[in-house]
Amino acid sequence: MHRRLIAPGALAAASLLLAIPASAADDRPGAPGIGDSYYPYYGNGGYDVSHYDIRLTYRPQTDELEGTTTLLATTTQNLSRFDLDFLLDVSEVRVNGAKAAFTTSGQHELEITPARALPKGTAITVVVRYSGVPSTKSAYGFSTWHRTPDGAVAADEPESAWWWFPSNDHPLDKATYDVSVAVPQGTQAISNGTLQSTVSGPGTTRYNWRSDKPQATYLTTLAIGRFDITTGRTSSGVPVVNAYSKDLGADDGAARASVERTGEIVDWLTGRFGPYPFNSVGGYVPDTTTGYALETQTRVYYSPRQFAGGSNTSVVVHELAHQWFGDDVSLKGWKDIWINEGFARYAQWLWSEHEGEGTAQELADYVYASHPAEDAFWTVAPGDPGPDNQFDIAVYDRGALAVQALRNEIGDEAFSAVLKGWPKKHAYGNASVADFRAYAEKVSGKPLAELFDTWLFRPTKPAAPAAQGAAV
Ligand code: ARG
Ligand code: ZN
Repeated sequence: MHRRLIAPGALAAASLLLAIPASAADDRPGAPGIGDSYYPYYGNGGYDVSHYDIRLTYRPQTDELEGTTTLLATTTQNLSRFDLDFLLDVSEVRVNGAKAAFTTSGQHELEITPARALPKGTAITVVVRYSGVPSTKSAYGFSTWHRTPDGAVAADEPESAWWWFPSNDHPLDKATYDVSVAVPQGTQAISNGTLQSTVSGPGTTRYNWRSDKPQATYLTTLAIGRFDITTGRTSSGVPVVNAYSKDLGADDGAARASVERTGEIVDWLTGRFGPYPFNSVGGYVPDTTTGYALETQTRVYYSPRQFAGGSNTSVVVHELAHQWFGDDVSLKGWKDIWINEGFARYAQWLWSEHEGEGTAQELADYVYASHPAEDAFWTVAPGDPGPDNQFDIAVYDRGALAVQALRNEIGDEAFSAVLKGWPKKHAYGNASVADFRAYAEKVSGKPLAELFDTWLFRPTKPAAPAAQGAAV
């Protein structure tokens, strides 16, 4: 990490001579990345964000977005300079009220140099004023800002924030959020958490959303468009807010028949994973053509394409399972994606069993049999798949097979204790595949190194399927 260029004693002596403030001894720039092994420039070093206040105005016709984001953060080192991850055009940055110098570097770095270096442990308020047309911006040759006929959507993984708010873009730095967006009258802005208020202005309506539990940047979403909004409650009283584009056409019925079951599915998942971790829940279906869904915290993003074939409660189960596995307990590094996708897929298998459409064991056997030994499927290690295979089908299906193998190894009682205990142990925090193994070993009292290696890390098809009763 940081290498001192001059011996500390020499520098202290020099600072006496040159009247350099003592704190300058190890002032240094924050790292341009948080240290992720797959994405070296995602997130940043030197500070920790506790809250984002995002206040924007959006014009759907021209895709113009403008406003300010205010970050509340604390420095974690003596800091001469720090980065945010961002792509739009910045006009002003203030740090603790004073104008700061800024420049861009790399693919998505906004480098900020405050007027004065910031000692470790300083509370800082960073105000970034900006504007831009997000759809014209790209990094690494791609864009994840999706315009729609009536607005736009920001929902993607592992990156979506760069196009709409400056951030420390990595799940290791979770924060709370206020997202406030003014849109033309008749149009809605949908985001995470609870709608605190709507405020009418001349020709516009401002939507003020709040997420008051720690939330990763990639789970923070924004959708602008013409939506029909429905509300309800789960049986434990959690408010359900769903939103459907007014232009879903033939997919509208199947979308509603699936997403309107959110409350019922949260109740069912609560029985498996423990109490729902957040204060609001729901999903939205904008008028997009992208093919994936995303577990955006408390307000899941669904593509209409998920419902083109008919109702699909399975995808609703998957994204809601992520609220526990991925959102409440987030990964430490993107290599740990199995602790998200392996369990969200496995929840779909449990739901299938619940609905009388095939047991988890039957689905595990089916996946095992569907992929012959020479299938590339087995070369992907869900426990560390590499950035190019992060969302490969093997992370999901082989990942869920691993969960079934674990269940068979430790037995139903310990397995269910692990599923319920894990979100409790790491609530609102971060964990790795290694942390999960250690936890399952502790709860079950069984050594699991061989099982994890076989099902999650070896690039070959395991000799035996994840058979029921194997070692129970
Ligand atoms: N976590 C999402 C899901 O499994 C996958 C998102 C993949 N991202 C993408 N751009 N295809 O529900
Ligand atoms: Zn998923």
